Amino acid sequence: MITLEDIRRPIMAELAAFDEFVDRQFTAEGELLSEMLRYALSSRGKGIRPMLVMLSAALNAPVKGAATGRRACLAAMLVEMIHVASLIHDDVIDEADTRRGRASVNARWQSHKAVILGDYILARNMSIGLQSGQFDLVTHICGSMSALCEGEVLQDECAANRTMTMRSYLDIIYKKTACLLGVSASAGALAVGATRDKVSSMRRFGEAVGMAFQIQDDILDYTPTAQTGKPACNDLREGKITLPLLIVLERSDEARQNELLADLSRCHEDAAAVERIRSAVESEGGLSAAGTVMQGYIRRATEMLADYADSEYRSALVNLCAYIAERDR
Ligand code: FPP
Ligand code: MG
Repeated sequence: MITLEDIRRPIMAELAAFDEFVDRQFTAEGELLSEMLRYALSSRGKGIRPMLVMLSAALNAPVKGAATGRRACLAAMLVEMIHVASLIHDDVIDEADTRRGRASVNARWQSHKAVILGDYILARNMSIGLQSGQFDLVTHICGSMSALCEGEVLQDECAANRTMTMRSYLDIIYKKTACLLGVSASAGALAVGATRDKVSSMRRFGEAVGMAFQIQDDILDYTPTAQTGKPACNDLREGKITLPLLIVLERSDEARQNELLADLSRCHEDAAAVERIRSAVESEGGLSAAGTVMQGYIRRATEMLADYADSEYRSALVNLCAYIAERDR
C-alpha cells in the first residue's frame, strides 16, 4: 500500500518551504479572524494540490532543486488556498457540521463568519499573488475559481431536481475538482518555465487525476468503513446522485428508477431510505462499475507520464495515481 509519505519523500524540502511560505504570508488582522484562520489552516488535509504543484515543478525543472523556488511556493499557495476557501464555503452550503473529523468552521463560528473567512482567504490569496508580480501564475491559477462556482451551481440544480445524466455528472466533477487539480499540475510546470506543450500535458495529467480523485471520493461516500472524517452516505442525505447511484439508475427500468428516486427524496430525514439505496448501489454493482471508470482515468493519467524520463519525481507521480485509486480516506 502506497502512503502519502512515500509520495512526499522526494519533495520534502519543497513542501517544508511551502509550509513556511504559507505561515509567513497568511496572517490576519484582529483576534477573531486570526483564530478562525489558524483553525482553518491547521487541518488542511492531504495536501494533494501542493504536492502536485511541487512534483510537477520538480519533474519539469531544467536543473534539480530549481522547484524549491519562490514561484513554485507561490503557485502551491494559490491553488491550496482556493481549495481551502471553497471547502469552507461548501460546508456552509451543505450545512455540514464536520470536516476532516472535527467541527466545520460554520459549526464552530456560525455560517456568516465562515462565509467571511472564505472570502478573506480568497482576498488575501489574490492580494499576495498580485503583490508578488508573478502575473502569469496568478492568471493561470485564479481562472479556475469560476469553474468551481459553476460546478457547485450545477450540482445544486441537479440535487434540487433529483436528476442526473452521465454528461452532467462528468461536467460537475470536472468543474468542482478536476479543473483545479489540472491547474495545480500545470502551474508547477509553468512555475519552472516549462514549454507550453509540457504545461498543457501536465494540465491534462492533473485533470485525469482529478476526475479519478472525485470518483473515488464519491465511492468512499458509500463506504461506511472509509476514514474520510465525514459521516457515510452524506451525498445521499444531501440529495446528490453521484456515479455509483447514477450507474444503477441507468441500468434500471422506469419502475425501479422511480422507487430509487422516491427513496432519494426521503434521504435527508429517513435513515432506512439511505440504507436501502446504499445497499442497492452495492449489490447492483454501482460501486464496482464506478471503480472501473475511476481506474480508466488513473490509467490515462499514468500513461501520460510515459513521455518523461524515469526519475524519483516521475515515480512519485505514478505512486500518487495508485494512491488515489487505493485510498480509503
Ligand atoms: C466539495 O464537494 C466542494 C468542492 C470541491 C468545491 C466547492 C465550491 C464552491 C463552494 C464554490 C466556491 C468557490 C470558491 C473559489 C470559494 P463535496 O461537497 O462533494 O465534498 P465534501 O463531501 O468534501 O463536502
Ligand atoms: Mg460538501
